[in-house]
Amino acid sequence: MSKLRTQFVCQQCGRISARELGRCPQCGAWNSFVEEVISPPASDAKRPQGFALRASSPRRLSEIEALQEERWLLPMGEFARVLGGGIVPGSMILIGGDPGIGKSTLLLQVALVMEKQGRVLYVSGEESESQIRMRAQRLLGNSRNQGADLEQTAPPNLYLVTETQLPQILEHVATLQPRLLIVDSIQTTYLPELESMAGSVTQVRECASRLRELAKTSGITVFLIGHVTKEGSIAGPRVLEHIVDTVLYLEGDRFQSYRLLRSVKNRFGATSEVGVFEMGERGMIEVPNPSEAFLAERVIQAPGSAIAVTMEGTRPLLVEVQGLTSPTPFGNPRRTANGVDVNRLLMICAVLTRRLGLRLSEQDVFVNVIGGLTVEEPAADLAIAAAIASSYKNRPLRADVVLIGEVGLSGELRMVGQTAARLREAAALGFQTAILPRRLGRSEAYPEAIEIIEARSLQQALAAALLGEEQDSSSG
Ligand code: TYD
Ligand code: MG
Repeated sequence: MSKLRTQFVCQQCGRISARELGRCPQCGAWNSFVEEVISPPASDAKRPQGFALRASSPRRLSEIEALQEERWLLPMGEFARVLGGGIVPGSMILIGGDPGIGKSTLLLQVALVMEKQGRVLYVSGEESESQIRMRAQRLLGNSRNQGADLEQTAPPNLYLVTETQLPQILEHVATLQPRLLIVDSIQTTYLPELESMAGSVTQVRECASRLRELAKTSGITVFLIGHVTKEGSIAGPRVLEHIVDTVLYLEGDRFQSYRLLRSVKNRFGATSEVGVFEMGERGMIEVPNPSEAFLAERVIQAPGSAIAVTMEGTRPLLVEVQGLTSPTPFGNPRRTANGVDVNRLLMICAVLTRRLGLRLSEQDVFVNVIGGLTVEEPAADLAIAAAIASSYKNRPLRADVVLIGEVGLSGELRMVGQTAARLREAAALGFQTAILPRRLGRSEAYPEAIEIIEARSLQQALAAALLGEEQDSSSG
């Protein structure tokens, strides 16, 4: 027998090298190379018939029959929206997220609702069947009278199994013929014939491609759960991302109850769509009006609070941004950002100092986005600046105002995209005024239900937004 041949594989991006490297030249990760045994490539003869070479012939666009995509109804509005309207048969969907964020919970809920339309097989490599049963009981809301209820109203089409070996899983699928297969998680699933560890790039990639073959040839929809590692990637992330049809990430602050389900790749719908859930006693509850939820605890007319309108995909979201300035005790002022990029905060502080004369060099500045959200869009700059200025001057902002706009280095305000959609959402939630960058050219008509104040500069915008500011704005 020949000597085992091995190679080194980057566990972050899948780059292969003949020797171990300290730093991956492809993705820049440190110490990410792991030695793996090279397995002989599956020969073409083993491939299923459907994949054999087929004579291809170019056709005109009009000659190609339009495929009316069938979708299974998913009666969870927020999830369906992220998928682009429902579940496409034969597709493979990856759900990534930090451990403990709620992936298993969410997919068990999907299993419980989809079970009404056909058989569902939930394969877990992480929890025992009785643990999953307990969770299902909790989700169905009859935890009090243990067991009894679940036995009578038990979902008849939901099957559970604890299994980590892929060939066994495929066997279960073959006997059970489910419509939906949920694999929790792809990192615990492995092929015994490969010698590398479960969770390694080789295993993850090979298991995922076999499952894809299953999905494509049988029409079964496969949901894969994948953990995100510290570095923010699923083991073998890039590798997996091109194997699957759809990539969703479940994100949120573990100490907050809101969870965002975000699509970053979708062959069957728009990307960057977001669904909002709240983790409750009985699993994930949909939040169809997230703006309302995020503003629920707002104290009106408190200094240091401003409302920004950000876009999550096609959906406008109103969020409260809080700012607090407090005199620095020992000369070295601190800047603390929670939910906004710290570099943006530094830039906004610099603009407030240089262009508006706020003496922030003597102040610690804290910025916080309520609800555990992260706002990355520059469109929130104006609200961040206003929250800081409002706290610094100890003057509240007008209660009924939203602030939209990017702040430039000279203190000018810049237009952001999808302004009309943002304004419609603000108007729908009862905001009466919006402060915006001045419109240059024509764009989509703004809704009439909200009063628009256009400002060219941050200074003008703050003069309009801060209560009691009008008198001294001329001097500044
Ligand atoms: P889980 O779905 O196991 O996370 P993941 O699969 O992403 O690792 O969720 C774990 C957390 O969710 C756990 O801390 C308990 C909490 N949880 C609730 O708050 N409510 C519930 O109804 C359930 C089932 C879990
Ligand atoms: Mg889990």
